[in-house]
Amino acid sequence: MCGIFGVTGEPDALPLILGALHQLEYRGYDSAGVALVADGGIWRVRAADGTRSVADLSQLTTDHPPPVGHGAGIGHTRWATHGHPTAENAHPHLDCTGRLALVHNGIIENHGALRADLVAGGHIMSSATDTEVMAHLIERHMAAGLSLAEATRAALGLVRGAFSIAVVHADEPDTIVAARRSTPLVLGLRQGVALLASDIPALLGHARQLYALADDEVAVLTPGAISVTTLAGTPVRPEELHIAWDLEAARKDGYEDFMSKEMHEQPGAVAATLLDRRGPDGRLRLDEMRLSPADLRQVDKVCIVACGSSYHAALVAKYAIEHWVKLPTEVDIASEFRYRDPVMTERTLCVGVSQSGETLDTSKAIEEASRLGAKVLVVSNVVDSSMARQADGVLYTRAGPEVGVASTKCHLAQIVALEILGLTLAQIHGTLTPEQIASALNEMDRLPELIEQALRRSSAVDDVAGKLIEARDFFFLGRHVGYPMALEGALKLKELAYLRAEGYAAGELKHGPIALIEPGTVVVGIATRNRLWEKLLSNIAEVHSRGATVVLVADDGDREAAAVADHVLWVPPCSPLLSPVVGVVPLQQLAYRLARLHGHDVDRPRNLAKTVTVE
Ligand code: F6R
Repeated sequence: MCGIFGVTGEPDALPLILGALHQLEYRGYDSAGVALVADGGIWRVRAADGTRSVADLSQLTTDHPPPVGHGAGIGHTRWATHGHPTAENAHPHLDCTGRLALVHNGIIENHGALRADLVAGGHIMSSATDTEVMAHLIERHMAAGLSLAEATRAALGLVRGAFSIAVVHADEPDTIVAARRSTPLVLGLRQGVALLASDIPALLGHARQLYALADDEVAVLTPGAISVTTLAGTPVRPEELHIAWDLEAARKDGYEDFMSKEMHEQPGAVAATLLDRRGPDGRLRLDEMRLSPADLRQVDKVCIVACGSSYHAALVAKYAIEHWVKLPTEVDIASEFRYRDPVMTERTLCVGVSQSGETLDTSKAIEEASRLGAKVLVVSNVVDSSMARQADGVLYTRAGPEVGVASTKCHLAQIVALEILGLTLAQIHGTLTPEQIASALNEMDRLPELIEQALRRSSAVDDVAGKLIEARDFFFLGRHVGYPMALEGALKLKELAYLRAEGYAAGELKHGPIALIEPGTVVVGIATRNRLWEKLLSNIAEVHSRGATVVLVADDGDREAAAVADHVLWVPPCSPLLSPVVGVVPLQQLAYRLARLHGHDVDRPRNLAKTVTVE
């Protein structure tokens, strides 16, 4: 996600801001920028050169330094969501007067309607971002005579979505106004200086006192002082933070590793992926996708290609698309796909799923699909990744950068993005009624809360992991969407805990692998309710009676499942097609805890690379 930094009261702010942006680089970013209030206006510099952008800013500002003597300054590292990663879309964004500059982290859900209204009122937009509308909204309120803080509060009252922002204006040269909703913002103070940042690492060493801004609070920073109000203007005391972290711990937000940080970011990743997908008429609308409804209407077959965890997300989507859209849906391991003779026509929709958007096998697979005439859509977490550029259309998961090698939050976001695609196809093909689509989307809106509940149960998973510390052989069994969940659970255990783990379709076990079941084998069964739940329980009873230790992922209160299990990992229930988004969480936690108990580095498992760009 984007990084934000701001400072006022510092006579030489630019090196401080550039240093902080450098600190924020670890979050992943594609462009960067700085603005200072100087010479009665705004001095601004931006660069869009991928992970070299902050270095470019340093060079640019050495070659063309800002005017001496300036007021407040703000800086930003951008992780693109709306609009390509170009210099024009890099923050800070200005209003029409060029006297206001704003940086933002998050997504403004109603930016389309706000933009249309502002443009109709004569505002000129110079970027494709959702962010820029906020600069112009604040401008509009300042033109009506409000101060920067008052105008910001009024503007934010009109905005839906998630944001943390920092704004400066030439009329109030030493002031920064900051606010947040759903994304973090930390404030800092030292003698004569006030600072803000999107995360703690950027403030370490710069501030003596740190404060957290809460949702819908607005802070006014002036040299050495901070005052905070609600959106309505009522003064509040910000919560003081007592941080004893070093830089490395702070980058992990206090978590022991990136994997646990990223697992805890899953509710936000899913919420962001769901955001802004419906038009004012309530119909699904995938603006960024580039493929038109006419393109999608003529699709008569879907073929999804991916690797690893992305492949497992694709397998879940197969159940959803076939059920909702009644279109034949094939899922292929990307490295196999192009070496057989896949049958595709111009009516085939080939979907490449890749967190990084750079995986060579998947990239070559979509290239082959394109050559065979298929329409190619890419589901990627990285804006303007190679695959996103290569495809006819793109649908972004908005999980933010994933640092841990084992995919967690991106896997869940991929399932959600693919299911949104499934519902969009159902809308276009008329296979579901608007009411059925609305009901599925409403249930999807509950997913962040259900994931949160699942995450809160980690100590119960830790207890089970503690009892399995001697185990060396694991089977993960599932049916229906439980099957890809089983594959994902087994993959996580293999790659993190280095334990032999096979993911299997539970019904297939009796056709061979059941010969391997003996006392000491651990069977992890996915027993969340779907229409094969009873059959799954029979398969589990078969392995239980042969001496396996059985661990079941089951819906809260499911006594029948508990009766055939040695240990149960309880999850809050939800409808079968959405259940992987919640039920995978305890599988991640189990692999995580076993890996830690075995003393392994969960962020950098042996022999693995985060992005595999070789065949
Ligand atoms: C497993 C994992 C990998 C990736 C696979 C594809 O935890 O992370 O299996 O899912 O390498 O990577 P992307 O999605 O970047 O194409």
